[in-house]
Amino acid sequence: MQDYDDEPVQRPRWLGWVIIIGMILVVLGLLNLGARMIIGTSSDQAAAQTVAAVAEHNPALMGGKTLIDGSDCMRCHGVERKFVGPGLVEIAERYKDRADAQTYLAQKIREGSVGEWGRTIMPRHPQVTEAQSLEMAQWIMALAGSKAP
Ligand code: HEC
Repeated sequence: MQDYDDEPVQRPRWLGWVIIIGMILVVLGLLNLGARMIIGTSSDQAAAQTVAAVAEHNPALMGGKTLIDGSDCMRCHGVERKFVGPGLVEIAERYKDRADAQTYLAQKIREGSVGEWGRTIMPRHPQVTEAQSLEMAQWIMALAGSKAP
């Protein structure tokens, strides 16, 4: 009877170690995730530097950034990174030698785009006024000269 009662309490010693190692791995995983969320990736840092450089050299253009942040743009675009659409720095680099880049992009923002970068469609933004789209385009184009190394 005595033996039978003791049975369930007995656990092989290795099981304790497996549980401890498992918990350590989970904690390390969470720390890794947390650190990434706080520090961000290096690409996020580069993007932040690029944006900060524009703010420093072209503070007058920051209204365009505010408009972009207030719209749905960043759901599909990253500053540097490509998501659904091209990164904004990529766009700026591509059109930097084009004289009418600002008005061209402003029109694209309002009317949408497809076929320039791939087959994904950028929807129209009829709620964005002409003046607002121009401000957005001016800020985007300012990113070209301010790309962080
Ligand atoms: C639903 C996703 C989506 C949203 C929202 C979106 N875009 Fe785009 N954007 C795209 C895609 C995809 C392309 C590439 C289109 C193409 O290949 O012609 C693009 C292209 C662009 C281009 C380059 C156009 C060209 O002719 O090269 C600009 C500038 C741009 N977007 C700005 C914006 C701005 C500003 C906003 C917010 C008002 C915005 N986008 C919102 C997906 C999006």
